[in-house]
Parts: sequence; C-alpha cells; structure tokens
Amino acid sequence: MSLQLFKNCRLVAPDFKSVTAKSALIVKDGTVQWTGPQTKVPKIFKFKKVTDLKAKLVFPSFIECHTHTLFAGSRANEFEMRNNGVSYQEIAAKGGGILSTMKQTRIATEKQLLSVTQKRVDSFLRQGVSTLEVKTGYALDVKNEIKCLNVIKKLKGPRVISTFLGAHARPPEFSDNSSYLEFLSEKLLPEIKRKKLSRRVDIFIENKFFEKEESQRYLRKAKDLGFDLTVHANQLSLSAGAGLALEHGAHSADHVINLDDELIKKFSNSKTVAVLLPLADLYMKCAYPPARKLIDSGATVALATDFNPGSCPSQDLATVGLLARLEMKMTLPEVFSAYTLGAAKALGIDGEEGSLEVGKAANFICTDAELTDFFYSAGHTPEHQLFIRGKEISKR
Ligand code: NIG
Ligand code: FE
Repeated sequence: MSLQLFKNCRLVAPDFKSVTAKSALIVKDGTVQWTGPQTKVPKIFKFKKVTDLKAKLVFPSFIECHTHTLFAGSRANEFEMRNNGVSYQEIAAKGGGILSTMKQTRIATEKQLLSVTQKRVDSFLRQGVSTLEVKTGYALDVKNEIKCLNVIKKLKGPRVISTFLGAHARPPEFSDNSSYLEFLSEKLLPEIKRKKLSRRVDIFIENKFFEKEESQRYLRKAKDLGFDLTVHANQLSLSAGAGLALEHGAHSADHVINLDDELIKKFSNSKTVAVLLPLADLYMKCAYPPARKLIDSGATVALATDFNPGSCPSQDLATVGLLARLEMKMTLPEVFSAYTLGAAKALGIDGEEGSLEVGKAANFICTDAELTDFFYSAGHTPEHQLFIRGKEISKR
C-alpha cells in the first residue's frame, strides 16, 4: 500500500464555487483516500511521500469526452471551400468530407497512424486532460476499423477510452445505409466485443445521413451485445438522434443544437448527458446548443472539442470553455463541472473519476493560477502540473 500526502493546497469545492486554503489530499494507490483541512489529517496514517503544494490551487483534471483524434491527412482545402460558400453537405455529397479522410486513413499504416495520433494526444495532455475519448469512424471497413481500434489501444499518456463509430458515414462499397449498418451489426460489433477493443458505440444520426428506422435497429443491436451507447444527435436539424439516444438510455447525446422544449424536458428526466461542442459550431457557423435551457431544466451537460479534420480542426479546450461562457451563457463553475464530472458521466465513468471524491482516481490539476484564468484566453491554458492517479505526468 502506498500512501501519499499532498499538503498545503487551496482545494476547489466540488461545485467549483469556492476554494478552501490550507487543505490536504491523501492518495492511496492512485485513488483519493481523504480530503479536508490540513490540521485534521488523521494521525494514524503513515505516509510514503509528502508533497508540499505551496498554496497552489487544486481541482479535478479535465476529461475530453468527444473527439475524432485518430485520422490521417488534412482537410484544410475543404475549410477554404466552405469559406467560399460550399456547404459541408455539398462537400460530403461530392466524396469529400468524412469519405476523403476515410481514403487517407485506410491507406495509412498502424505505425503512421500511431505516430500522428500520439502527438495529438500529447497536446490534449498538455492542456490538463487526464482522460480522453477517441472515436474510430474514418476507416469504415473491417480490416481498417480494427487497425484503428488497435492503434487507440497503444496510445499513451491520459487514460484513453475508445468508441466505435463505424456508423459515421456509408462507405462507397455499400449502396444503401441499411445494408451497411446490418454489416456492422453482424460482422464488426461481435468481433469488437470478442476482442474487447471497445465498449462504446456511436452513430451519426441525421436526415440524409443515418435515418431513424435503420439507426433504431442498430442501436438496439449494439445494446443487446452489451455496448454503451452515444449518439451524434440533432446537429444539423431537429432530427431523430436525441430522441433515440434518450429512448435507448445512451450515456450521451452529442451536439444537440436543435432541441425543442419536449426533448429538453426528457433530458432533464434522464441520465443521458447532453454533450455540447461549441468549437465545432463556431467552425460550422451554426447556432449554439441551448445550454442555459438544458442546465436550468436540470439536465446534465458536458463540454468537449469534437476535434476532427472537418468540422473542428482544433484541440483547444480553452476556446471551448470560452465559447460556452461568451455564447452559451454558461457560468465559469458550470464550464468546469461540464469538463470534469459532466464529461465523466457522458463516458459512464463518474464512479471512477471526474471529481476528487473518496475512492475516485486522484487525477488533478495543480496551479498558481486562479480559476478565472481558465477558459478566458483563447488558445491558452495557464501553467499547471497534471497529476494522474497521484503521479505527476506533465508540467507546463
Ligand atoms: O462530429 N457529424 C459528424 N461527425 C463529425 C465530423 C466529422 C468530419 O467532418 O470529419 C462531427 O462534427
Ligand atoms: Fe463528433
């Protein structure tokens, strides 16, 4: 058993609304054993290591719960096209968009993919991310989706949670969506399950992409096989995604820009987290999700980058939180909660991390900065140290 004492810190309250000076944190084998005033540290503990945090601020580290970090190539040319008036859907219809990244990802070797992806993962880590979700969805065939899942397994640094997003777009080998989803259900899902390559399944539900009935069948199959569910929902229109996510008890419904009052109410009565991705909305020049209405009605929200080569070619957590504050009227404590416990709930790991409660992973940020210095300056994370399971991982 290894007991560590972190003393003399300014510990941020679980709701991020206050700070207690002269606090201490006791960590046992990587998990939080005790937190409280330094003067009350139980005398019975024998510490293997004592660290003086020198009155630095301590709060749970960030969880980035929605990314498409694994891909080859770039789509910078499409950004220029979109800026000249061609829509995302028009580019996709001409074989660009997701399918253009697919071509490049299919031909990339495991080694090449691991090398570019690890660099991106390192960049998340430097921003204080201790847990990172990474989706597949740019290979869309058996051999290469498995290749991508294997690459995700090899990533180092933060805890990485993989999500199978075979249902991202229909690859050219299939002439209709239903037969592609059936193929995924019959061939890929059971293999992923058997090889324990991922526990989560995602699908992009939208008019003219994967539609209601076929998505319904796919989600049912994935759930029957024991996968956790998450859905790209209601991004471009008031479509079926959010309703299906709620109906199937998905851990999260992501994007959720187009919601009516009835759906908002359903979120507030469910455990499904509304994952908000405002940096993608900025790049897509679309509306922002109704964060205030969701939060005020009692729904749980999370924030994430949606980092991908098309709709959000940026990994910048600071700007995500900044947009949430500027454009979605979220308060600073709400932004921190959304990027920690909210994101943990979206990934179904809130029993293990997301807050510095006893029994959870001792994943935290330690800094001379104040909370107000975060999510303030676009592109900038204040200097800090990141601890994962009580161990210092990165400093910047
Ligand atoms: O979350 N909406 C679907 N998927 C991504 C975009 C992927 C891409 O354009 O490569 C998203 O925005
Ligand atoms: Fe996405």
